[in-house]
Amino acid sequence: MERTEINEILEESDRFIRSFGHVLPPFAYWSPEELRTRTASDAAQIAANRLGWDITDYGQGRFDELGLFLFTVRNGSAEDLTRGRGMLYAEKIMISRDKQLSPMHRHNIKAEDIINRGGGRLVLELFSSADDGSPDPEAEVAVLTDGVLRRMKAGSRLALDPGESVTLMPGDWHAFWAENGDVLIGEVSTVNDDLTDNVFREPIGRFSSIIEDTAPRHLLVSDYDVWLSR
Ligand SMILES: [Fe+2]
Repeated sequence: MERTEINEILEESDRFIRSFGHVLPPFAYWSPEELRTRTASDAAQIAANRLGWDITDYGQGRFDELGLFLFTVRNGSAEDLTRGRGMLYAEKIMISRDKQLSPMHRHNIKAEDIINRGGGRLVLELFSSADDGSPDPEAEVAVLTDGVLRRMKAGSRLALDPGESVTLMPGDWHAFWAENGDVLIGEVSTVNDDLTDNVFREPIGRFSSIIEDTAPRHLLVSDYDVWLSR
């Protein structure tokens, strides 16, 4: 993706989020320079726990069809998770655009609630894991939807209207997309590690490769390794 396109998606996404009365935290609006200075002093946690903007086309260069906007608002640490106490949780705000697919994947560690916070309808395709970890084409899928257990056939589609959510446990395969308009999505989960805890059904990347045709307005989490060490 070109940096120009990423800058545009940041602006459009910020507008969409604000249209629901939801506002991102202050560090969302820091310049790359301020983020670099502050993560070297009082805001080290932002870089260490990879908080912030995240736009992905899964490395395929077709963002409108295959992609997702995310912003990690908070994220605990793997050490706390291992200790079993402390900051074991994470929160993201995401936008799935109309008919924009997030491809089939599962997590090894993370349990996540995917919440339709407003807009169109969010549709998820679901499979259980077979013994080898692959999507089971036969096994029933059982998920909690706002405390209500739903049992469905393998590969069923679960539609979430605004206000509805689903709890996905480690091993639950899921792909999702929006219908009838863009959807503002909340994610409340256990500690999140996007570098290691995404298993995709198809061989696919988690992050975009970026062509630097203009300066970044704000850094993406995937920029931190390079840009914050300059
Ligand atoms: Fe997921």
